[in-house]
Order: sequence, then C-alpha cells, then structure tokens
Amino acid sequence: MASSMLIRADNIKLTGLGFVGSEFHTQKSNLSYSKRNLGYKCVVPKCGMSSSSARPVSQPRFIQHKQEAFWFYRFLSIVYDHVINPGHWTEDMRDEALEPADLHDRNMIVVDVGGGTGFTTLGIVKHVDAKNVTILDQSPHQLAKAKQKEPLKECKIVEGDAEDLPFPTDYADRYVSAGSIEYWPDPQRGIKEAYRVLKIGGKACVIGPVYPTFWLSRFFADVWMLFPKEEEYIDWFQKAGFKDIKLKRIGPKWYRGVRRHGLIMGCSVTGIKPFSGDSPLQLGPKAEDVKKPVNPFVFLLRFILGALAATYFVLVPIYMWLKDQIVPKGRPI
Ligand SMILES: C[S@@+](CC[C@H](N)C(=O)[O-])C[C@H]1O[C@@H](n2cnc3c(N)ncnc32)[C@H](O)[C@@H]1O
Repeated sequence: MASSMLIRADNIKLTGLGFVGSEFHTQKSNLSYSKRNLGYKCVVPKCGMSSSSARPVSQPRFIQHKQEAFWFYRFLSIVYDHVINPGHWTEDMRDEALEPADLHDRNMIVVDVGGGTGFTTLGIVKHVDAKNVTILDQSPHQLAKAKQKEPLKECKIVEGDAEDLPFPTDYADRYVSAGSIEYWPDPQRGIKEAYRVLKIGGKACVIGPVYPTFWLSRFFADVWMLFPKEEEYIDWFQKAGFKDIKLKRIGPKWYRGVRRHGLIMGCSVTGIKPFSGDSPLQLGPKAEDVKKPVNPFVFLLRFILGALAATYFVLVPIYMWLKDQIVPKGRPI
C-alpha cells in the first residue's frame, strides 16, 4: 500500500501516517507548515494563487501552457504507461488516491479530466460501469492509447480543455482528474469547472503534484511545470465553493514518506458540491487559447528547457529506489 495521510481543511485529521518530517497546525481553516520540519513556513492566504496572479520570474514553468503540454504529450504518450508511470504513479497509489472519491455505485456518471492514456480510468472502471465514464483530454495522442485498452472500450472519449469542459452544468456524480492540473495555465478555472459540471452532492477528486522543499528539486520543478503547495489546492477548492474539503497524501512506497523532492503524484484532494448550478466564483476570460499562434523559436526553447527539467524528475524515483534498497528498513532515507 502506498503511504497516505488525510488532512481535512476545516478540521485537520491525520490517518495512516507513513511520511517523515510532517507536522501540521490549524489556524482557523488554514494550514501552516512547521518551519523546523519542512524548511519553510507558509499560511494559506500568502501562498494562495489567484487565477490572475502573474507567474514569478523565478518560476517560469515552461510546460505549464497548453501548447507546450500538447507537444510534450505528443512524444511522451509513446512511452507514458511503461516509462513514466512506474516511477511516479503505480497501481496501488492510484487505488489509494481514488479511495476518497468514494466510487461506490456502478451507475455513477464520472468524468476523468486530463484522462490521458486511461491509467486512472482503469482504476475508475473497477467501481463504475465503463459506459458511464467519459475520458477527456486535450491530447489526441494520449487518448489514442486509452482507446486501445479493452476495459475502456465502452467509455466515451472526448478531446477538450479542462478549463472549459464540454459538459452541462450539474451533469456528473464524480469529477476525477489525475496528474493534469500541473499543466493547466489557470488551475483555479479548472477547479471552478469541476464544480460546475458536478451535480449537487457530487464529489471532485483532484490528484496532483506537491511542491518540493529541497532546493535542487525546487529549481527543476519551477522550470518544468506547476507543483502546487497543499494549501493552494485547498484554497482553489474553497474559492470554487466546495465543502468538506480533504487532502490525502500519497507517494510511491519506496520513498518511505519522503516529500522533500516533491512528488508528481503527491496528494488526492476531494470536495463536495453543496448547491446546484455554477460556482459562485467569478473569473475573467480564459488566459490562454491553444489556437493562438506562438513564436516557433520561443516555443522550441521553452519546450526544450521544460523537457530537460522534467528529466530530473525521471531520475529522482530511481535515486529514491536505490536509497530504499541500500538504507536498512525502518531508518529514514
Ligand atoms: C500526466 S498525464 C495524466 C494522465 C492520466 N490522468 C493518468 O493518470 O495517467 C496528464 C494529462 O493531462 C492532459 N492535459 C494537460 N493539459 C490539459 C488541459 N488543459 N485540458 C485537458 N487535458 C490536459 C495531458 O494531455 C495529459 O494526457
């Protein structure tokens, strides 16, 4: 079983602690990290990113754009299931992360946003009939891989944008998105869309990365894409109007709970839609459009730098795996 910890935004609750160096405090509905344990202090309002906040120059996040993400997955889709997932997103992690989504009824209507090759959808269809599940992604190359998977044959497969979902308001019982938020230029807009498409009482489950605290990992994370802080997820959910927000920590079991290098799949955040209709949050027009022309040289440079930074995170799980093999069991790594 992958290590996990559950955090409630309003009433913090920890379960199944498998991670070292973690300590949380509540301040009203805020989370703050202990400086002693995690190397920085951060309280929700200071860290919360609004959809309009400019990206700091020190955090260029070269692949956190739709065009770059499109081309990134044009190539990555070839090896995604076999090379990327085993280091970051294993079947036991997936099942741990989907558990708070509470997929208890085979007739539930589920949307898997940024569903890619259908790795997470394979976990969903264990609990829900495939004909009730829609896989949405902006990458036709990723979706082509999902189409080949026998258990997903009856799923609806849709090309689309997580920030502008082609589903009616009050449509789904569950909204699941795993490992996609890090590429959305405006995560708050994506979470607001999650709220809109859910039925009253429906649940959103967003699984995604967590920000590193170790300086080198932080540098490469900032060059690559968005690694949100845990309190940012909670802030986005709260602003979108979700209630009963919970955050469960996940991670590969050979990390022994280490989170200082960040995690590509580091938490599963859930929230319930309390009222029908659209989110109470008002946002301006979308920041980015994939159809907008870009300067090809700037694009190529961004793409290469982003992809190089991503390579660092292919190596981290191998490094952690070696440490896990070498350091005696029960000792911190
Ligand atoms: C790391 S993969 C995750 C795939 C899958 N959910 C899984 O668990 O393996 C991220 C996916 O998000 C998709 N994506 C990125 N930005 C998107 C957006 N704005 N709208 C829809 N899909 C997006 C990518 O094309 C890619 O397939």
